[in-house]
Amino acid sequence: MNRKFAPLFVLLLMASLLLAACPAAAPAEPAAAPAAGEAAAPAAAAPTAEQVTVRFIGATTPRDHDTQSQAYCEEQTGVKIELINGPESATDRLAQYLQFFGAQSPDIDLVQIDVIWPGILAEHLVDMNQYISEDEKATYFQRIINNNTVDGALVGIPWFTDAGLLYYRTDLLEKYGYTAPPATWAELEEMAAKIQEGERATNTDFWGYTWQGNVYEGLTCDALEWQVSWGGGEIVEADGTISINNPQAAAAFDMAAGWVGTISPPGVVSYQEEDARGVWQGGNAAFMRNWPYAYSLGNAEDSLIKDKFAVVPLPKGEGPDARNADTLGGWQMAVSKYSAHPDEAAAVAVCLAGRESQKIRATVGSLLPTIGDLYSDADVLAANPFFGQLFDVFNGGAVARPSTVTSDKYNEVSTIYFTEVNKVLTGAQTGAEAVAKIEAQLQDVLQ
Ligand code: GLC
Repeated sequence: MNRKFAPLFVLLLMASLLLAACPAAAPAEPAAAPAAGEAAAPAAAAPTAEQVTVRFIGATTPRDHDTQSQAYCEEQTGVKIELINGPESATDRLAQYLQFFGAQSPDIDLVQIDVIWPGILAEHLVDMNQYISEDEKATYFQRIINNNTVDGALVGIPWFTDAGLLYYRTDLLEKYGYTAPPATWAELEEMAAKIQEGERATNTDFWGYTWQGNVYEGLTCDALEWQVSWGGGEIVEADGTISINNPQAAAAFDMAAGWVGTISPPGVVSYQEEDARGVWQGGNAAFMRNWPYAYSLGNAEDSLIKDKFAVVPLPKGEGPDARNADTLGGWQMAVSKYSAHPDEAAAVAVCLAGRESQKIRATVGSLLPTIGDLYSDADVLAANPFFGQLFDVFNGGAVARPSTVTSDKYNEVSTIYFTEVNKVLTGAQTGAEAVAKIEAQLQDVLQ
């Protein structure tokens, strides 16, 4: 955690709680003054005494699927959900959560937690096993239930899963004579360079490939994909072996450094997901690495690239163990142990992560369900044909970050990794230097 920003997070959190506690702003049109002798009507219906409000740290920018699924769950549970917008970056969000959990604050009831955080946050979260039956539990992907189970406690109900994907412009591939998306990174480099050169004739803002290179958790996701695709291991293996110091991982990082300023904007070294999507959805990139949420946004009615793109697994690297690698992401609904309303918060969590809500989120927002049978639901598939095509990736095929094996140390592990990889991207060190430095630091942290 970045200690420098800790006080800022507390302030921001307190400010958002204060705002949330304030009465709604006055309506723009003042109500007509009551005529003499008439009793003034109450300004607004007071909430019924029994209605509980749960405070939920959720989306940074609520989208249609958030609004619709929250409205559905308010109706189902009778509980009011007050949304507090969380930070966009997973790294910043974890720092914020640790601040208020550290203070044992009862002001937050419900949180969305990243797939990599169960080991870090378990001690602050309610065991959801008491709110969900074994039969219901069995409808969720077993891998994610296992991931979210710490010492027998289910610390979060799987809400949506995620996998890194390659987005490509179908119209531009055709224009430049390509019949299929790239199978290897070398092919991607060649195609991106050729399309970029051609498009620059009429669009000087055009780039070949856009992705996430900022110093944050998202870079761990991208870089893990590069190294696994080169057969470079998974940083720390399931048995605890620190495997990062190997030539394949080093070569993978050097490859990505070579994209910066050539086929990718120089600023990519500070890009997060939404920066990459901005370039892509503005029609200014041939390829993008991103999560499935960008699919529905790219196909929105007002999108410049509507119906002009498709998604596939990310390309393979080189070497005998080269493979496609898509990092596993995703979020869970969790209830704070310090909540004054744990039962109501749990009811909302169960509903938001339940089948109906997941169906809304999948059809409207292209978020990947964690309930397997939704992948054969006709409405879900009509909105997202790729859910069926890539089912094996989404159901167990994606590559997990080493968060189970490193547990409560995971954030330190990831911070070391993304910090050193970013220095390769900015040209401050080579891939070989980075893997040696990561290994040495991981030995210290994990010994
Ligand atoms: C997405 C993933 C999450 C990951 C984050 C990194 O939100 O679902 O698992 O940590 O991106 O930026």
